[in-house]
Amino acid sequence: MQLARGPASGEAAAASPISGPAAIQISRIMRPDDANIAGNVHGGTILKMIEEAGAIISTRHCNSQSGERCVAALARVERTDFLSPMCIGEVAHVSAEITYTSKHSVEVQVHVESENILTGAKRVTNKATLWYVPLSLNNVNKVLEVPPIQFAEKAQEEEGRRRYEEQKLERLETKERNGDVIMPVINPEPYTVGYSQSSLIHLVGPSDCTMHGFVHGGVTMKLMDEVAGIVAARHCKTNIVTASVDAINFHEKIKKGSVITISGRMTFTSNKSMEIEVFVDADPFVDESQERYRAVSAFFTYVSLSKEGRPLPVPQLVVETEDEKRRFEEGKGRYLQTKAKRQAQTQPLTQQ
Ligand code: COA
Repeated sequence: MQLARGPASGEAAAASPISGPAAIQISRIMRPDDANIAGNVHGGTILKMIEEAGAIISTRHCNSQSGERCVAALARVERTDFLSPMCIGEVAHVSAEITYTSKHSVEVQVHVESENILTGAKRVTNKATLWYVPLSLNNVNKVLEVPPIQFAEKAQEEEGRRRYEEQKLERLETKERNGDVIMPVINPEPYTVGYSQSSLIHLVGPSDCTMHGFVHGGVTMKLMDEVAGIVAARHCKTNIVTASVDAINFHEKIKKGSVITISGRMTFTSNKSMEIEVFVDADPFVDESQERYRAVSAFFTYVSLSKEGRPLPVPQLVVETEDEKRRFEEGKGRYLQTKAKRQAQTQPLTQQ
């Protein structure tokens, strides 16, 4: 992996109106173990690189003044779309820039570009927004203050504050879902929820963790994408790719030595997409006083692709119980809402 300091490529760094730490860029060639059997790089690999870039720039910024040393912990990732596929052999360029600071949090915007180094062709594959919170190295439960960045224009600062206030309101909602569990199903019928639901158990080791000894957000997102991908592939048995991830809030830390169970179930199918809900539960069994708890939950959307890389219709999810029907309707609501937003963004200005 190559880490460069200085102006990043892509829109994020093109004309930065903000005077903060220099943008960073990480570049890495995509290898077979980053991708699925069809050669498409996993969404989870990209999410992990995005988080690494965000963690570097936010931790660097939060330690830029004298005082207590800290590590920036990932608190939230805004909804992210995977705009175009990345393939084995291409180079991923991940650039990160700090775009807003509140008293205790840092907003980082990350752009990912794929480069075909044989032809020089470049494509934007992702734009992501992440929020980090600095936690003291001496006391992981102590949130430190963030050095403010300077804005050249008042409007930029106001826009940043609006994004900050908006996510603060929105993130309260996910806490409500956190009691739900995924129960095993015996002899499920094809295309039912039980047919494709899957889970993965992972022992949290040192290489998964920050200097505090808690799991990196990127590691968790990669595992979540892996489970969601298994659910999607079991359902439609074709090549599948991550299309988007809804906003994820990281309310709880996961300690080194914990055993985490990542479970996924399908909640909704449209004609050509599948929504999968993923839960991460942690068992901190080295610290027996704490019981199993829900650390994170999120919705991933997957698309099934033909051999030529075109989206295919997916088998419709068969919902049986009242809860499954309710979740399907909720998924449909999210699907229609994001579809309407996407369409509004692509409308020519004259039609708005
Ligand atoms: N998204 C964005 N910002 C968040 C957030 C979220 N989900 N939760 C808290 N914050 C921000 C708050 O806005 C506040 O900043 P402000 O004062 O400038 O508004 C700051 O964090 C501290 O909030 P506070 O209420 O004092 O702290 P908390 O008790 O909610 O703890 C975390 C916040 C992020 C430290 C805590 O939720 C945590 O430890 N989460 C897990 C982090 C982690 O381990 N990430 C990787 C997971 S795999």
